[in-house]
Amino acid sequence: MREQGKLITLEGCEGVGKSTQIRMLQAYLDEAGCETLFVREPGSTSIGERIRALLIDPSHRDMHARCEALLYCAARAQMIESVVRPALRRGTIVVCDRFIDSTYAYQGIARNLGGEAIAALNRFACDDIAPDLTFFLDLPPEQGFRRKGGADVADRMEGEALAFHQDVYRGYCAAAEREPQRIVRIDASADAQSIHAQIVQCLRARGIVR
Ligand code: TMP
Repeated sequence: MREQGKLITLEGCEGVGKSTQIRMLQAYLDEAGCETLFVREPGSTSIGERIRALLIDPSHRDMHARCEALLYCAARAQMIESVVRPALRRGTIVVCDRFIDSTYAYQGIARNLGGEAIAALNRFACDDIAPDLTFFLDLPPEQGFRRKGGADVADRMEGEALAFHQDVYRGYCAAAEREPQRIVRIDASADAQSIHAQIVQCLRARGIVR
């Protein structure tokens, strides 16, 4: 059966303001009376949250890149089958904080596993589910790190060197260039309200909300 809902994903480097935009979008869609589901990756299921804890634990410094990629994709498969697919079948607008493009940018490019290996893993994890629309909050990592205000690094991924995050950024830019129809690039150095306005305008232009 074909899913009737829409899957919208938000992507970007650390500290680009994704959480703020997700909160603003949630308030807007609630106000508009849309049926929504907000999820985050990795996580949003009890299995996925346990996988998340494994992935971001700073003591797991020796985690191999292939193990890391498989764990992200395992959490994704669980989330898709237990919450995302059923919601799409009900006609829900599903908004996901990070999705397949994170795996491409972080594991494919920054961890050097390659785009093809990650595309195969993503296909296996997602089956036939794909984002209808992706917002790439575009901010180079130097600026994102500054925004985070040098907060204590508690997370294994955030704790990677700046060069790693610059590779992640390069990965996102490559994905956005390859799929300009799906991936809408938004200058994330703008103020939160104007970013939100651009997101809403795009959702309206695509007929996802009225
Ligand atoms: P978050 O802190 O933005 O929720 O994401 C958790 C971390 O996991 C973040 O550093 C990005 C990273 N990540 C990957 O490396 N690959 C992935 O596929 C996903 C979804 C996240």
